[in-house]
Amino acid sequence: MARKIDTQNESLDVYVYMAKTFADTPWLHYGMWEFGDRVSVPNMRKAQERYVEFLLSFFPPAPKSVLDVGGGTGEMASLLTSKGYEVDMITPSGVQAEEADTKLPMERVHHCTFEAFETDRKFDVVLFSESFQYIPLDQSLPKSKSLLAPGGTIVIADCFRGENYNGELAPGSGHKITEFFETIGALGLNVARDEDVTDKVAPTMEIDQQFYRGFVSPLVTQIDGLLKRTRPIVHWFAGMGYKLFTSRDSRDRMQMRLKAEYRSPDNFRKANTYRFFALKAD
Ligand SMILES: C[S@@+](CC[C@H](N)C(=O)[O-])C[C@H]1O[C@@H](n2cnc3c(N)ncnc32)[C@H](O)[C@@H]1O
Repeated sequence: MARKIDTQNESLDVYVYMAKTFADTPWLHYGMWEFGDRVSVPNMRKAQERYVEFLLSFFPPAPKSVLDVGGGTGEMASLLTSKGYEVDMITPSGVQAEEADTKLPMERVHHCTFEAFETDRKFDVVLFSESFQYIPLDQSLPKSKSLLAPGGTIVIADCFRGENYNGELAPGSGHKITEFFETIGALGLNVARDEDVTDKVAPTMEIDQQFYRGFVSPLVTQIDGLLKRTRPIVHWFAGMGYKLFTSRDSRDRMQMRLKAEYRSPDNFRKANTYRFFALKAD
């Protein structure tokens, strides 16, 4: 399949490189932390692998066919294949698809969105490992249901906005959990298993804070100071350009992002609920 670089998943693609370089990890999801863990970038991969172990407990025993939607760099698909599952994966990202091609047969890696994915095959498991939030509910759930083989399972691990979330600036993301339950109810999908791991994933926000406070913010200050000293005119034009082409609102958000104060584990817990679900159609 021809590969071209797309822009749709740019920020996740940057994350692919950062995760690989700084944390030596192929995973793009949150980590699950235990009490007493030292929350740090070098420990991120271990926490992510704990997440994967837990996710595997939602799978029926192999051999089974799996569609890994938003499969990232192909790590889960490759792991499942090594355990005897027959796995296809989807990613709209060219960077991720290229990486996945090195781990899986090319015909198993579908470079498109889930919305655009076409097949007449059915799957025992349709998996969303932190990819569910990127796809509108009224498309992901009906389509997943239609792709299920008899007795099949939709497995979702993802962040949802909690019941009390009102759109305020808060870390985390996802569909509103109330809308999720309404949609599965309307589709006749049953919850076979529902695990709330919010407390275990929330410490991942500390990594985010460490990264912004300890790396991005000092780097920006350093470059700004260097430019001001060595190229004052360029510095002046850069400053004017930034003010001219970005709104006050987005500049304020950038400042807050660099300080990262609001991106705390506690604020994450207040605004989100991180869930692992197994859904059945019958
Ligand atoms: C946070 S990453 C998770 C990757 C991987 N599942 C993991 O657990 O490491 C989100 C994934 O969803 C994919 N994605 C985003 N929008 C999508 C869409 N519309 N259809 C399918 N996948 C999508 C991204 O390209 C990425 O692979």
